[in-house]
Amino acid sequence: MEYDEPLFFKVMQYAANADRDVVDMVSGNPDWEPPEALREGLHDYADADSDQFQYPPSEGLRDLREEIAERRNVDVEQVIVTNGAGEANYLAMARALERDAGDEVILTDPVYPYYPGKTTMLGGEMRFVSTELDGSLDPAKVRDVASDDTGCIVVNTPNNPTGAVYDRETMEELVAIAEEYDALLVADEVYDHFDFSGRFESALTIDSEHRIVTTAYSKSMAITGYRVGYAVFPESLVKAAKTRHMLVNVATSRPAQQAVLDALQNTDAEYYEETRAMLRARIDAFTDALDEAGAEYSRPDGAFYVMARFEDFPGTLDNVYTLIDEAGVAGMPGEAFGESREEWFRFALVTPRADEAAARLADYF
Ligand SMILES: Cc1ncc(COP(=O)(O)O)c(C=O)c1O
Repeated sequence: MEYDEPLFFKVMQYAANADRDVVDMVSGNPDWEPPEALREGLHDYADADSDQFQYPPSEGLRDLREEIAERRNVDVEQVIVTNGAGEANYLAMARALERDAGDEVILTDPVYPYYPGKTTMLGGEMRFVSTELDGSLDPAKVRDVASDDTGCIVVNTPNNPTGAVYDRETMEELVAIAEEYDALLVADEVYDHFDFSGRFESALTIDSEHRIVTTAYSKSMAITGYRVGYAVFPESLVKAAKTRHMLVNVATSRPAQQAVLDALQNTDAEYYEETRAMLRARIDAFTDALDEAGAEYSRPDGAFYVMARFEDFPGTLDNVYTLIDEAGVAGMPGEAFGESREEWFRFALVTPRADEAAARLADYF
């Protein structure tokens, strides 16, 4: 697991060095425009008084935290603005493991590779629960591995890499398991704006002292480089998390926070609807081509990744390289996401050339 990130970069590098044109479907960087108000906010910031260029409050700009608290129906003190969902997950997992309530972290397989990386970094022990072939998670399987040693359960919905969206019943059960074993459920909802099923349920709607919700504007506003996200902690756990955030980061970038606030206040629902419509069309075109290529796949209910399996062509790193060289399409090998999907590839649909990539795959197979 400690090699997951180098693997990711290795594939990107291999694709960049290929002798041919390659459609990059490796990383999760949105290729569409941010909200217009975000660009305007950043332009305005350049002319602000220089005192606006100094440290913001460590836990985040007050106005941004208030905006978040109002939208999410939580107390402003529960909100910490972070360096993306990545830091939010780190703070949440660290909090879960430093409580002396168990050092095991329950993760799903397939898994977003940063979770195992963070678990190891924080000294936790991993326990994996396999998801179903369609990506859904059976909470009974989580209960089976849960014990007094469980300190943390990390889930991601809508899910990277499977595209699964967990329903309300699943989320309620996960919170209940966390409560039963005095663990913390960390729900990473960074893809919450990309639900195509209408079934997405934020863990925030389930009131509990045992759940933390993490998210970011990275994907929803197409700004992975801004590094603005947040975590919502139960009141009893938030103070130590704020201290950790302060000691590690001092604060999150102030201009980026202000630009996000401007965008939140001046962007209507249409922006997000248009992005979803565009992604739906990509998913349709891509999965049609996968049908043509005779691939097995599950249509994502959320997020923007498709996992696919081709007959007699497992998703090994070698075959990823072969697809780059011979088909001109770069994806990720399934092994990067755990043991259960070693046969599979993951394709990120964040390129305007997804249609072209699909046609290339159909041709190749
Ligand atoms: C499941 C998941 N969580 C967190 C992140 C990181 O988000 P951020 O860029 O906001 O730190 C990603 C990015 O791909 C992700 O897929």
